[in-house]
Amino acid sequence: RIQSVVRGIGGYLPKRIMTNDEMSKLVDTSDEWIVQRTGIRQRHIAAEGEMTSDLAVNAARMALERAGMQAGDIDLIIVGTTTADMTFPSAAAMVQHKLGITKGSAFDVQAVCSGFVFAVATADSYLKTGLARRALVIGAETFSRILDWTDRGTCVLFGDGAGAMVLEAEEVADDAPERGVLASSLRTDGTHWEKLYVDGGVSSTGTVGQLRMEGREVFKHAVGMISDVVEDVLEKTGKTTGDLDWFVPHQANRRIIDGAGRKLGIPEHKTVITVDKHANTSAASVPLALWVASEDGRIKPGDLVMIEAMGGGFTWGASLIRW
Ligand code: ACO
Repeated sequence: RIQSVVRGIGGYLPKRIMTNDEMSKLVDTSDEWIVQRTGIRQRHIAAEGEMTSDLAVNAARMALERAGMQAGDIDLIIVGTTTADMTFPSAAAMVQHKLGITKGSAFDVQAVCSGFVFAVATADSYLKTGLARRALVIGAETFSRILDWTDRGTCVLFGDGAGAMVLEAEEVADDAPERGVLASSLRTDGTHWEKLYVDGGVSSTGTVGQLRMEGREVFKHAVGMISDVVEDVLEKTGKTTGDLDWFVPHQANRRIIDGAGRKLGIPEHKTVITVDKHANTSAASVPLALWVASEDGRIKPGDLVMIEAMGGGFTWGASLIRW
């Protein structure tokens, strides 16, 4: 039996921090409103010329170092992103190039905020079927580039960043203890596309476009969809929420995280929160939260970790990982 084991995790946040007070100089908002409705206090913003693949490479280098591996050990790179440097090639191809890797394969997964969870499930399948042996799974975004900076309903919610995870295929006896990615559940329902989308693109307007969102509609669906996939993964693995050591949700909004935790019966002290400092970094939010909680010693080897995300499409998904 092959299992996909976590070997290392890394993260990167652009140097520039933008506070809610600074935001209130751009649009009619306040620190109080943003904190109360979202839990967000600040976000990081990529510098001019700093691209999604640059953020991703910084996170990837750290993950490789933590894994004790060289870039040349990697034969699969999957980047979850909606904000690749260019229309093509993929951000993953740029990451591969910048890391000096020329073998294996690299491609992006476009599932918006669920991108990292979709990428983990994809990499897990590649490793378990022998298509690759060592994967860099990355979530990286520069959402600051697709925001309408005059729309207070959306621009206050997002930030830039990247997180990376090294997964390695480990061959073990059938009765060996289970480690790594235990199970995943992925969903998409495109009927909801107009509730959260970017109003431009290659084959529609020929422009990049800006993010548009019906915030209340997203909120209404989020908790139910998240609970759905988390429960599905628990059922597939014969676990209960009581077995979880850590719940690492997509960091969109504190109220969504709290709502999902309450519905699933997961206590706050087992939930990793970074939305206050990072805001919503889309596909980067889950690996960034995993990075923060493993660096500060909360997530330890042997821990059972549930990751989940929900985003544009709608897409939603969850994975259960034995660290
Ligand atoms: N500052 C001050 N006032 C604001 C702001 C702001 N930044 N944004 C909106 N308002 C105003 C609105 O204009 C409105 O004013 P009005 O009553 O005079 O018209 C009022 O606040 C209420 O607006 P709502 O949109 O109803 O506010 P709501 O309580 O729903 O909060 C929010 C908005 C925070 C966006 C909420 O709907 C939400 O969190 N939705 C989830 C969206 C989300 O997290 N999306 C992320 C991407 S998807 C994902 O990652 C899961």
